[in-house]
Amino acid sequence: MFDRPHAGDKAFLVRIDFGEGDVQARLDELAELTVSAGASVVGRLHGRRYKPDAALFAGSGKVEEIMNARTMWGADLVIFDHELTGAQQRNLEQALGCRVEDRIGLILDIFAQRARSAEGKLQVELAQLKHQATRLVGGWTHLERQKGGIGLRGGMGEKQIEADRRIIGKRIKHINTQLDKLMRTRKTQSRTRSRARVRTIALVGYTNAGKSTLFNRLVHERIYTADQLFATLDTTLRKLPVPGAQSMVLSDTVGFIRDLPHDLVVAFHATLSEAADADLLLHVIDASSPMRDEQIASVESVLKEIGADKQPQLRVFNKLDKTTHPPGLERDGYGKIRTVRLSALTGEGCAELREALAEFFPAPNSDYSSLGTSAEPASEFPKTGTQS
Ligand code: GTP
Repeated sequence: MFDRPHAGDKAFLVRIDFGEGDVQARLDELAELTVSAGASVVGRLHGRRYKPDAALFAGSGKVEEIMNARTMWGADLVIFDHELTGAQQRNLEQALGCRVEDRIGLILDIFAQRARSAEGKLQVELAQLKHQATRLVGGWTHLERQKGGIGLRGGMGEKQIEADRRIIGKRIKHINTQLDKLMRTRKTQSRTRSRARVRTIALVGYTNAGKSTLFNRLVHERIYTADQLFATLDTTLRKLPVPGAQSMVLSDTVGFIRDLPHDLVVAFHATLSEAADADLLLHVIDASSPMRDEQIASVESVLKEIGADKQPQLRVFNKLDKTTHPPGLERDGYGKIRTVRLSALTGEGCAELREALAEFFPAPNSDYSSLGTSAEPASEFPKTGTQS
């Protein structure tokens, strides 16, 4: 039995390669996440293995190497770019003598710091509770007081674990009830939009792709943008004026990320459902990222998970000013624009995006109306959404 070491803010990063490759790019992304969470990165290390060790995740030799390196660099926190089991995390903390966090704990921490609305906060707490529930292991004071958590303490023995599990279960139920209520309010608001035949367009994309910057550019309004991962957590919704197009509203949602834990996707379902119910998705892509294709694939996989993979989609390759290798333009069989290249920062290419939107949803009697609409007509049935 031992107490968890205190978490500091000098982080040492670890990634074990099980054949996925791209170790440095993945460690770079983990470093960005770490900085987004408010810690600094003092060192990093990687290794290779065939499969994770059941007790320590890495091999015992590697753990010793991590121990020496983290001591040398004065790190008081070791972050694994993987999902660890509760037992692995406990064993690693014991072996390394410092706090050990995994990728999911880190993402949850960032989400907890960023959530602003009541709904966002509830969703984060729900995800944290579900994550905690999976790591109730003995011999570890795991359920301590946590930022954004539920203030539990203990975790000493099997009885305590049972008690903790019950308390967590009760709290999850309570949060779900509250989220249900908020969801009903969203539905009423979106039913009103649907009746007024307002098209909903949702920005989706990998975190840091530039969704908020594009949002501001398109609606001429400043919302918070930062070179930080997950700066946006809560859905924002604004009118989108486009000449020659029908009435539209644009929503900016949470950034997606590789290996987004399933529980987190479920917990953010209310927010993400904005995308699932939109008439059109604008998939914003950082065209300058070396991981561009992988990020596109990650977003597609989350869209599938939330049932938004069948929505009409326009790919927006952003940060054109930063790349010398922009992707080619694509048009569909009817000659309509399917991909747009632009810079949300300089505004270059944004006119083409507006043109594509007017093609999708032409106003009656506009120049575009003879083309017909590419997307399904707005449903008469209620859609979910939020008005922030
Ligand atoms: P999350 O909230 O994490 O999902 O991020 P986001 O997709 O909303 O990205 P955001 O708009 O906050 O932009 C992230 C960073 O990229 C900021 O530093 C922006 O200034 C920068 N950025 C956005 N668009 C462009 C662009 O067209 N060119 C360049 N060079 N930078 C851009």
